[in-house]
Order: sequence, then structure tokens, then C-alpha cells
Amino acid sequence: MSRPVIAIDGPAASGKGTLARKVAEAMGYALLDTGALYRGVALTMIRAGADLGDADAATATARSLTATDIDRLTHDPDLRLDTTASGASRVSAVPGVRQALLDFQRAFAANPPDGRPGAVLDGRDIGTVICPDAAVKLFVTASVDVRAKRRFAELQGRGEKPDFADVLADMRARDDRDTKRAVAPLVPAVDAVIIDNSDMSPQQVLDTALAVVREKL
Ligand code: C5P
Repeated sequence: MSRPVIAIDGPAASGKGTLARKVAEAMGYALLDTGALYRGVALTMIRAGADLGDADAATATARSLTATDIDRLTHDPDLRLDTTASGASRVSAVPGVRQALLDFQRAFAANPPDGRPGAVLDGRDIGTVICPDAAVKLFVTASVDVRAKRRFAELQGRGEKPDFADVLADMRARDDRDTKRAVAPLVPAVDAVIIDNSDMSPQQVLDTALAVVREKL
């Protein structure tokens, strides 16, 4: 029997990554942050001095990544840089890149590592493309202003001196690219439960998500 999958999708800085980690912990499931895969492709290209706008090079890079490379990249601190995030948003629009990363994500969902009883995958297209049969689909979102404020505070917390207008513009540009791309655009699955956490505490978001999980599983 296949193992239950919890799909958590949503835009940048929606809190979906934190929620996915807490849900995975609460359920004892394996967790895959799929954004890290796209970030890994971008970071590999940036380090090689490759042109991020070169679709063939991006596809070749995505195809060349082994599970060991992915594991190493997910622990690389440069993965969280804004330049890496912007690069990820660019390469993720390339159909060949998405195709190359599809099998890895599906295999993780079908066979969660360490014998875990299920998997949580968080990203943009888990409920729509990667795992359309997921037992639970959550779409986590918040207004663009709230998300930009969160990112602004996060950057300040890292000792940076961001300009709020720049952070907001960057957030809008990333939303635009993610929602308007031709392949696997960011959109809630028709059967996803939408959680808008603009005015919710992290605990309220977790409680809401776990209530949905218990109802569906
Ligand atoms: O979630 P995160 O910010 O790490 O994702 C980085 C970028 O990777 C996103 O802006 C998006 O363009 C892309 N991505 C994607 N599909 C996913 C996960 C991330 O296109 N499943």
C-alpha cells in the first residue's frame, strides 16, 4: 500500500516551510523541501559561472544532480541566499528542469526514507503536478505585504540592512514569475484546503493544518 502524502504548497515567505517541518515532526513523516532542489540547481549554476537564462544548461545541471549532490546542497548555507532564491525562481520556469526533478520527488513520496510511515512535501506544485493523489493538500498563503514584512524582518535578523520597498518589489516579482509561468504555475489544487495565515499565529496555523490532516487521513 502506498504511504500517505501531505502536500503543502504556497508562495514565498508564506510560512509553508516551517509548517511542513512541524507537520512532519508531529506525524513522524519524512520531509522534502522541494524548493531546495530548484535552489540547488541555481546554486550549482551560479558557482559554475553559467548563465541562468540558458535553458539547456539549466536542464543539463538538473539532470546531472545525484541524490548525494542534493543531500550536500540542502545543507549548504548559500542555498538560503536571496540570489540563490531568485535564480531558483528563474530556472524553475524551464520545463526540462521541472521534468528532471520530477522523478526524485515522486520517488521520495512513494518511498519515504528511513522507513517513515508517510511523507510531507512542500513546494509550489506538489498538489497539482507532483502528487495529484496526495491524501492531504494544503495551500498556505498570506498577503504580499505580510510576506514582505516577514522577509524584511528575517533579513534584519541576519544582520542585513534591507530596504522594504526592494523586498516588496522582489516578492512581487517572484510571485509573478511563479504564478505566470507556463509549466506548473503556482496555483492551489482544486481539492486543496487554503490557509491564509495573514492574521494567524504560527500555533494557530499548525493547529488548523493538523485538524485537516486528522480529518483526511
Ligand atoms: O520555496 P523556495 O523559496 O525555496 O523556492 C525557491 C523557488 O523555487 C521558488 O520561487 C519557485 O520558483 C521554485 N519552486 C518551484 N516548485 C517547487 C518549489 C520551488 O517552482 N515545488
